[in-house]
Amino acid sequence: MRGKLVVGNWKMNGGLRANAALLGALTADWRPAPGRSIAVCVPFPYLGQAQAALMGTSIAWGAQNVSEHRSGAYTGEVAASMLADFGCGYAIVGHSERRQLYADTDAVVAAKAVAVLAAGITPIVCVGETLAEREAGTTEAVVLSQLGAVLAAVGEAAGRVVVAYEPVWAIGTGRTATTEQAQAVHATLRARLRAAGAADTPLLYGGSVKADNAGALFAMMDIDGGLIGGASLKAEEFLAIARA
Ligand code: PGA
Repeated sequence: MRGKLVVGNWKMNGGLRANAALLGALTADWRPAPGRSIAVCVPFPYLGQAQAALMGTSIAWGAQNVSEHRSGAYTGEVAASMLADFGCGYAIVGHSERRQLYADTDAVVAAKAVAVLAAGITPIVCVGETLAEREAGTTEAVVLSQLGAVLAAVGEAAGRVVVAYEPVWAIGTGRTATTEQAQAVHATLRARLRAAGAADTPLLYGGSVKADNAGALFAMMDIDGGLIGGASLKAEEFLAIARA
């Protein structure tokens, strides 16, 4: 059976003091249960802090982005091997904010996924359509082409990837996809993953997940958990989602 995974994406939020309080509350209040995992993806400078606070607990940590290159003259970039040095279990690649604001293309996202896998870290590959694409009826085509680029690049490692479906119009807007909308896209993604021999790849939903809608979303057949933005900055709310 596929387990459930809930990942917090702090985005560019936090600070040493606020993080200490949040990480402390998570470690104090999270009760691990079989088949349920949680993780937090923090800004790069706080990876050491997350590692120190979470090492030896059942909470994993990771990064929100990574370079597609191994090393070299890439000022300001962070290599996957550096994330591994800080014990990262996960690295988000292809978040819609990276695709939209920093021009991460499908090819770059695929290369990042490959780099993350090579460092022994699990990539959380984000896919999702814009509102215009949904209204044009191209949701399936968009997410399948985003996922397809990654599957083509990672080959047989497809089973070591986590995929997050995040409709762009639902991120940070308070407008969650309905359970039916989310499940329909997840079923499409699942079928594509099954064809790639990776039917059990965890499929997360992201986009305005809150404690009061998480249970209904996570109960859907092909939704294996969530990627949580705003609501992951409050320990109580994040843990309520993780328990849902
Ligand atoms: P949100 O963000 O939960 O604040 O909508 C989700 C995400 O961007 O990963």
